[in-house]
Amino acid sequence: MTTSSPIDVPDAFAASYGAHGAAERAWLAGLPALGAEFLDRWALRPDGPARYGMASLVLPVRRADGTPAVLKLQRAREETTGATAGLRAWCGDGIVRLLDHDEATTTQLLERLDARRPLSSLPDATAALEILAGLLARLVAVPAPPGLRHLADVAADLLARAPRAARALHDPDERRLVRTCAAAVAELLGESGDRLLHWDLHYDNVLAGEREPWLAIDPEPLAGDPGFELLPALDNRWAEVVATGDVRRAVLRRFDLLTEAVGLDRARATGWTLGRVLQNAVWDAEDGSTALDPAQVAIAEALLSR
Ligand SMILES: Nc1ncnc2c1ncn2[C@@H]1O[C@H](COP(=O)(O)OP(=O)(O)O)[C@@H](O)[C@H]1O
Ligand SMILES: [Mg+2]
Repeated sequence: MTTSSPIDVPDAFAASYGAHGAAERAWLAGLPALGAEFLDRWALRPDGPARYGMASLVLPVRRADGTPAVLKLQRAREETTGATAGLRAWCGDGIVRLLDHDEATTTQLLERLDARRPLSSLPDATAALEILAGLLARLVAVPAPPGLRHLADVAADLLARAPRAARALHDPDERRLVRTCAAAVAELLGESGDRLLHWDLHYDNVLAGEREPWLAIDPEPLAGDPGFELLPALDNRWAEVVATGDVRRAVLRRFDLLTEAVGLDRARATGWTLGRVLQNAVWDAEDGSTALDPAQVAIAEALLSR
C-alpha cells in the first residue's frame, strides 16, 4: 500500500477480502489510488477511521459544505451495479440515500448513518424484528426498475445446481430436504414477481439514522417476489431462537410476523423461503460442505411442518 494515500486500508479487510482470489487482490492493490481519486473528484475530506464489510471499504467523509457522508469503495460486479439502480429507485425511502455515484467503478457516495448502532445491537429481538419487517414492507412496495437481475433467472440457475448439491450431502434426510426445497421452487418459477428486492436485509444491514430512526444499507437488488426476502430475518440472531426452547414455534412466530407485516401469502412465502434455504445449501456444497447448516434445516422443517 502507498504511504502517501489518504486511504488507509485496514489489514484485516485486506486479508479477508484478498483471500477470495487474484481479482480481489488486484482491486485491493489499486484501492488507495481509487479512494484518493474519488476524494478529489467529489471534493471530500476523510473524517474518521474506515469501516468495512465482506466486500467493501467504507470511508467516513465530509463534503465541501461540511455534510457528513460515506464513500463506499467496492469492486464493480453485477451486484454492485444493481445496487446503484436499486438505491436510485428507492430514493431514500426506508434506505440510505445515494448522493453520487460512478458507473464504471460502482463507487458510491452515501448519506452517513450511525455505524456504531446497527439494528443487531438492539437488545429486544422482537422490537428489532418488527423494525426489520416494517422496512421490508416499504422496500418491496417499489416495483423493480428495468435491467435488474430477475429472481426467475436466479431460481432457474439454482435448480440446475441443486442435484449436485444434494448428492454432496452425507445424510439422506438432508438430501431429501434439498430436493423438497428444489421442488417448491420449481412450482413457483412461473410466478416469480416484479418487486424491487434488497436480497440481504439482515440486522447488520440496518443502521440508526437521523431523518428516520432506522434505515437499510447494502442492497443487492433483484427483481422478484418478496417471499424471497425473508430468510435473513429468520436465521439471524439465531441464538435467540434456540434460547426459546421451542425452535419450531420461534421460527413460525418470526415468519408469521414478517408475512403479516409485508402482506404476503404464506404458502408462496414458504416456497420462496425454501428457495433461499436451497440457495444456501448450494453455496455451502460448492464450498465443500457435506452437511446442511442446522439453522437452515430447522427453518425448512418448521415451515414444512404445517
Ligand atoms: N451509510 C453509511 N453510514 C455509516 N456507515 C456505513 C454506511 N454504509 C456502510 N457503513 C459501514 O460500513 C460497513 C460495510 O458496509 P456495507 O454497505 O454493509 O458493505 P458490505 O457489502 O461490505 O457488507 C457497514 O457494516 C457499516 O459499518
Ligand atoms: Mg453489509
